[in-house]
Amino acid sequence: MADEVAGKILAWYDVHAREMPWRIGPAARAAGTRPDPYRVWLSEVMLQQTTVAAVRDYFHRFTARWPTVEALAAAEDADVMGEWAGLGYYARARNLLKCARAVASDHGGRFPGTRDALLTLPGIGPYTAAAVAAIAHDEPAAVLDGNVERVLARLFAVETPLPAAKPELAALAAALTPEARPGDYAQAMMDLGATICTPKSPTCGICPLMEPCAARAEAIAADLPRKAPKAQKPTRLGIAYLARRADGAWLLERRPDRGLLGGMLGWPGSDWSAAPDPAPPLAADWRDPGSEVRHTFTHFHLRLALRLAEVPLGANPERGAFVAAERFRPADLPTVMRKAFDLARPTFAGTTAAGN
Ligand code: ADE
Repeated sequence: MADEVAGKILAWYDVHAREMPWRIGPAARAAGTRPDPYRVWLSEVMLQQTTVAAVRDYFHRFTARWPTVEALAAAEDADVMGEWAGLGYYARARNLLKCARAVASDHGGRFPGTRDALLTLPGIGPYTAAAVAAIAHDEPAAVLDGNVERVLARLFAVETPLPAAKPELAALAAALTPEARPGDYAQAMMDLGATICTPKSPTCGICPLMEPCAARAEAIAADLPRKAPKAQKPTRLGIAYLARRADGAWLLERRPDRGLLGGMLGWPGSDWSAAPDPAPPLAADWRDPGSEVRHTFTHFHLRLALRLAEVPLGANPERGAFVAAERFRPADLPTVMRKAFDLARPTFAGTTAAGN
């Protein structure tokens, strides 16, 4: 079965591989072109956040600004956090920098070549280590992400719900990973999961694995993988304070390194809880715009009330610092903070589209 699956999916990948800016396609790979481990690693970390379509732009901006792992290692933290803004899970951006610095200082700027050695780097977990080892170094490491889990659950008609099915799926992934072309194989499985073996309406009629697929034979492909019911997310409340000084500067605060949105710029505010304590960063005539920001994080929904104020040049905040209008880039804010700005901006007299 393993040989049949690898043969069929690799033949399919040779024709249908998606083009991606970090990918060496099957023809170039066969001709001897090797992927750049830095680009493979960066793309895999980004792809854990969001879709291939959304990652493309981030990837182009990162690699234009920091073309090598050494360049990234030498970057200012705030610049990297700014470029990451909008991708979410900001702890991952901090780990990205830690990892780049470890590769630069402890490995002479070269990514280690094996899964086990990659696992010793900060922020590299089992998925990323296996993906980089397979894709960049052609090590037969079993690569298992959500797409591949779905493909395998269907191929073998695994009825155990996720997440309990994970060990079973990991064993299947390991048993199927071929010695030949493991990097292409890993990417082929991911492409199949993203384009044909999709979550809701898989197009089994054009699937290269149609023949051995057990779920297709039982006509249950669309029902797999089964999932244990998710706990409902709680809703938390918060208050954000947006102050604009008479010269157009905005009062911002860098969040503590640890915790949610760690190290990111944001509006000073209350805690986020069932009953947040108000915490204005300075005494001002705060007004309530009457609308709130809604944002969903991994573990909770947030309803963020806003308080807005115009403050004089001599204003002396207890928290945060004023950022001059010409240095303020709303795009550097994490999404929830940018939503607050977008909602508040029209109510500040004389602001322009750039936020000044
Ligand atoms: N999703 C995550 N990593 C990927 C890759 N290397 N190719 C295609 N899809 C992916």
